Amino acid sequence: MSVTILVGGQWGDEGKGKVIDLLADRVDMVVRSQGGNNAGHTVVAQGVEHRFHLIPSGILNPDTLCVIGHGVVVDPNAFLQELERHQQAGIDTRNLMLSDRAHMVMPYHPVLDKLGEEMRGDDRLGTTWRGIGPAYEDKVRRIGFRIGDLQKPAFLEKKLRFVLRLKNETLTKMYGHATFDERAILDEYLGYAERIDPYIRDIYPVIQDALQHDRRILLEGAQGVLLDIDLGTYPYVTSSAPTAGGACTGSGIPPSRVGRTVGVFKAYTTRVGYGPFPTELTGELGDRIREVGHEYGTTTGRARRVGWFDAAVGRYAVSTNGIDSIVLTKVDVLDALPTLRLCTGYVSKGELWDHPMANISHLKHCDPVYEELPGWQTPTRDCRRFEDLPAACRAYIERVGELCGAAVDVVSVGPDREHTLVRRLPLAA
Ligand code: GDP
Ligand code: IMO
Ligand code: MG
Repeated sequence: MSVTILVGGQWGDEGKGKVIDLLADRVDMVVRSQGGNNAGHTVVAQGVEHRFHLIPSGILNPDTLCVIGHGVVVDPNAFLQELERHQQAGIDTRNLMLSDRAHMVMPYHPVLDKLGEEMRGDDRLGTTWRGIGPAYEDKVRRIGFRIGDLQKPAFLEKKLRFVLRLKNETLTKMYGHATFDERAILDEYLGYAERIDPYIRDIYPVIQDALQHDRRILLEGAQGVLLDIDLGTYPYVTSSAPTAGGACTGSGIPPSRVGRTVGVFKAYTTRVGYGPFPTELTGELGDRIREVGHEYGTTTGRARRVGWFDAAVGRYAVSTNGIDSIVLTKVDVLDALPTLRLCTGYVSKGELWDHPMANISHLKHCDPVYEELPGWQTPTRDCRRFEDLPAACRAYIERVGELCGAAVDVVSVGPDREHTLVRRLPLAA
């Protein structure tokens, strides 16, 4: 039972990267299991900022094996650029491996992503334009290309001829867009093949061996539960499963081996892109929290929408993922506020809901029910133990845990590793 799953409990950007980095030196292996370079994780280690999109932030620890699992969709160009950037920053990347079963983002995927969004007009989702949706579509449609295909040029060529016929047909007839050239794609991808080859592995025996020897494994989720294709605010979601269940399928690790599931939550809520956000603060207060929290996306630089902590969302994430440990981040961002609000449910059409309802238009127009708590109006950045936090801050944190239904084991009061208050280490025994 030495496996720990870490998921984002809200709409992404909860601070997962920081927590993974924090835990990485206490585990043998970090496995990323879904999403692609739509993810953006900023980690500050010893005052230096590192940005991750595809490569697990566990790579900052040279002794931790970092695996990109088969549930991830990998843009080979983005992967190589990120790899080079980390190597130039002096990070040792020898402990990195990439599943040969992981699907690839092909050059037409980001183009189709953007065109699809334009076609939706006012109903667009606000995707990251990284081609993630179209890549997962092709995987499910069974016309995707996998990383292992880079090692089979003849197969790649034959399959591309067939797939490109479909893609070019869609591009020209649906969107009036230019076609893609088969030779150019082949040359480009076979060029990547040579550089990616040292990282490609059949990860099945690697993971089985680690399980057999009871090695400590940390499964790194990208995005967040409310962006999940099934449990999230569909269609305003991503195209993968950023849940505990998704972590198992995307890595090949059985649920029976999972000893702990950690949910990372921000002390308030943010969301990038469109879709319902019941506790959103659109006025001055929202702007203030955005500025104090530097709420601008790591991947696209977009301003994040900001709102109060939504415990109805929190409880939903805890119960659907079996979260038994909460990490609450960015508590310091709330330091100056005189009063705080926690959403406990919603009223929609005269009915009280304790969880986000499936009907997206009802969720868009519901009235959140709030509890009001006093603020602490004291800086928390220099606190190093939970007991050092102001009483009102501790009360807020405990109430978040109570409403969500899991213990808050770690509190984060700043971006650096040292700004972390650990009450109980959130790892499987
Ligand atoms: P992720 O996608 O879940 O890894 O989160 P992001 O990296 O996209 O966004 C979290 C941002 O908040 C990053 O810039 C972190 O450096 C920063 N951060 C993480 N924890 C804290 C915290 O406790 N306080 C503050 N002020 N910033 C934090
Ligand atoms: P991390 O791992 C926040 C959002 C996009 C958009 C929706 C669909 O940094 O928490 P996509 O490109 O995935 O098809 O876009 O999902 N989104 C994220 N929002 N953090 C992320 O990742 C996200 N990854 C995707 O903004 O609303
Ligand atoms: Mg992020």
